[in-house]
Amino acid sequence: MSEFLKAMAFRHACKAFDTEKQIPAEQFEQILEVARTSPSSFGMEPWRLIVVRKPALRKALKSACWNQNQITDCSELVILTTDNDTVRSGTPYVRKMFERRGLPSDAVDTYMGVYKNYLEPIECDEVLLENWTAKQCYIALANMMTYAATLEIDSCPIEGFDKEEVEAILDLEYGHSVAVLCAFGYRVNPQSPQKRLDVKQIIEYR
Ligand SMILES: Cc1cc2nc3c(=O)[nH]c(=O)nc-3n(C[C@H](O)[C@H](O)[C@H](O)COP(=O)(O)O)c2cc1C
Repeated sequence: MSEFLKAMAFRHACKAFDTEKQIPAEQFEQILEVARTSPSSFGMEPWRLIVVRKPALRKALKSACWNQNQITDCSELVILTTDNDTVRSGTPYVRKMFERRGLPSDAVDTYMGVYKNYLEPIECDEVLLENWTAKQCYIALANMMTYAATLEIDSCPIEGFDKEEVEAILDLEYGHSVAVLCAFGYRVNPQSPQKRLDVKQIIEYR
């Protein structure tokens, strides 16, 4: 089996983390690097990651996250937030993101136009915009979890939270929102068998 498939088999949504075991700093930095280097639509990298280490903050977040023990018990808690306002079409941020490709200014203008056409029907609705930026976070999330599994580090993605409450606790800047959380650490219980639909139920060839 390839290393990648081994990691896919190792990864599960870890419910109980060993509170005594810390992820080595170098490995955690690599997990964050995997998020940083993940792909995003138009290369806009809307994600802004918050690593929560303060016990009091973890405790406050836990009650806003369905009281899930993973929030307080994991070794590292990553909150994938998004900066929705800077990625709106026409902002200096968007221009910079295209300019860094080393394109001539007329090509940058073309990109700005294509981006505007794409984003206008999305950015006119704050929820649609938040969902679009959140989608990018899920790519980073998946990459982080699978990479962590290659290091035999467990994880649990967390969508079970009260968004408004978590955003208030984090005191996010205007235009920022929370997409998803992820706890990383080490399991205390053996992994339960992976339950998945059969290939035939989910894949169709046309
Ligand atoms: C986006 C996302 C959000 C999730 N949120 C939670 C959560 O809040 N709490 C939890 O215990 N598991 C959560 N899960 C875990 C799923 O329930 C789990 O991945 C699924 O049941 C498959 O099990 P496995 O990952 O152990 O193979 C989440 C998974 C994903 C992908």
